[in-house]
Amino acid sequence: MKKRLLPLALVLTLFSPSAVLMMRAEGEAPAHKEGDKAVSKEPETELGKVMEDLSRSWRKLRKQAADAASNASSIELVAAIGAATEKAATLQPDKTKDLPEADRAKYVEGYKTKMKEFTTKLASLTAAFKANDNTAAQALIKELGQMQREGHKEYKRPDK
Ligand code: HEM
Repeated sequence: MKKRLLPLALVLTLFSPSAVLMMRAEGEAPAHKEGDKAVSKEPETELGKVMEDLSRSWRKLRKQAADAASNASSIELVAAIGAATEKAATLQPDKTKDLPEADRAKYVEGYKTKMKEFTTKLASLTAAFKANDNTAAQALIKELGQMQREGHKEYKRPDK
């Protein structure tokens, strides 16, 4: 009987809460949960920060773009996105540093042109919301989404 109880006692001791706490105290900190500040990726560059701001307005805009009652707010969001892209056009993609010196100027020029095209299309988007043409607005948002994908493919480092 005693022999049979011994393994059971061992298992109970090992997995008791205090044993788990002791193991934690000795070893590494507990793994971070999804959404923890410590693991969520913070932007590392000024352009990254501008993009994060832009992204917040962009997500809201996409959610409400079909709703004509939100057009006044949508116009404000487009203005915030425009201000962010204007700022972004004064910066350089971090990926520029990966290129040979001789190729950098042309690369940055291409980036700026793309960003300015994006900003120009935002003017059409404002006009669509002002005209309460939410169908046209949604089509323009699709086009801008395509420009975002192209811009990221060419100028953003792939996510690690
Ligand atoms: C709807 C439009 C766009 C959205 C919502 C958006 C969003 C984002 C987000 C969330 C990041 C990651 C930021 C970070 O945590 O570091 C990012 C990075 C970046 N985006 Fe955009 N983006 C948009 C359009 C564009 C366009 C049009 C271009 C280029 C012409 C572009 C170029 C970049 C680059 C280069 C980075 C990397 C940052 C760096 O190099 O420092 N983005 N963007």
